[in-house]
Amino acid sequence: MSGTADSQADLTMDYDPLKEIKAFDDTKAGVKGLVDAGIVEIPKIFIRPPHELAEELTQGKSTLQVPVIDLSGIEIQDRRKKIVDEIREASEKWGFFRLINHGVPPSVLEGMIDGIRDFHEQDAEVKKEYYSCDVGRNVRYHSNPHINQTKTAKWRDTLNISTLASGHIEPEEIPAICRKTSLEYINHVMKLGEIILGLLSEALGLKPDHLKATECDKGQVFVCHYYPACPQPELTLGVAKHKDPAFLAFLLQDQIGGLQVMHNNQWANVEPIEHGLVVSIADFLQILSNDKFVSAEHRVVANKIGPRISVASFFTGVFEPPKMYGPIKELISEENPPLYKEFLVSDYITKLSSKPPDKSGLDLFRLVSPSSSEHLYGPSENTIIMCTGQ
Ligand code: OGA
Ligand code: NI
Repeated sequence: MSGTADSQADLTMDYDPLKEIKAFDDTKAGVKGLVDAGIVEIPKIFIRPPHELAEELTQGKSTLQVPVIDLSGIEIQDRRKKIVDEIREASEKWGFFRLINHGVPPSVLEGMIDGIRDFHEQDAEVKKEYYSCDVGRNVRYHSNPHINQTKTAKWRDTLNISTLASGHIEPEEIPAICRKTSLEYINHVMKLGEIILGLLSEALGLKPDHLKATECDKGQVFVCHYYPACPQPELTLGVAKHKDPAFLAFLLQDQIGGLQVMHNNQWANVEPIEHGLVVSIADFLQILSNDKFVSAEHRVVANKIGPRISVASFFTGVFEPPKMYGPIKELISEENPPLYKEFLVSDYITKLSSKPPDKSGLDLFRLVSPSSSEHLYGPSENTIIMCTGQ
């Protein structure tokens, strides 16, 4: 940490962040471009503000393990009941769980990670074709597209593959270098999604097809991250703390680690499990479940080693034609009144992008004031769908 004070003292006078941000963006080579150029100190736009760095030193770190759900034997009735109970507990207490024996073949998981690595490691000139902040594009590569709002850049580059703009993806739109592997992986995630939505429905005491019938898996965004090795990982982050503005996310990560979830006011590492997947309950499911399930705050820390590859697959629900979502009728009663207004996915995402920094998306749609234990957003980047949905 010895570099911290010096670096912060430098954040004065002749430092013009907007100029640096523009110069970085103009390279269209992302964070990987910086690392390839051989930098040994991270540029100032990546350094977290002093109050965040100070807070980090006092923030507790949890040694608790994020729950692991083993899906094997799911076809056996008693076993399924046990899995539903475990998923209920994890979704209520953590909003995060790791899945094993989920049925997605190891070769498909490895293929996806390799394909994304290959995309990011191909010739910078080829990648530039995809470099864009235009959310009207189904497939685009970018690094820190919203840095003007968030002020601090993050140590990662991202390939976004999204159905939101046009309702579907044509295979040819996906870069050839990762097309086959991505299509295969997406296919499997959609099937696994149905299984998990069934289990989550049962965990809420509903019929297995309840969540699927809301079409919450209709819109999808696949966010394929590349986190280069970082020479000063303690000064920056890979992804700022945030909750996901979606129904559900499936996260595929390699073995490097860095993902953390907030639990009992402490950061817990989401340790990678070989050939495992991580499920995150996101904001919309917290709303539909009327706060029975929680959308957990999470982030990715930077690392001396790398690159780390991860793929977050979001189920966003229906964008077009506009569809109202809200607390599920079967879950509300006189004793359990609805805690949220109904919302349109597009409206949620638009409002979230212009929210004051101390509000979470959930707060914007909450009918009653949040309990004092609720963890609010810091001035964070509030991420991913923002990069896709606006
Ligand atoms: C995200 C996210 C985590 C990771 O993209 O929203 O939380 O491990 N990613 O990359
Ligand atoms: Ni996330």
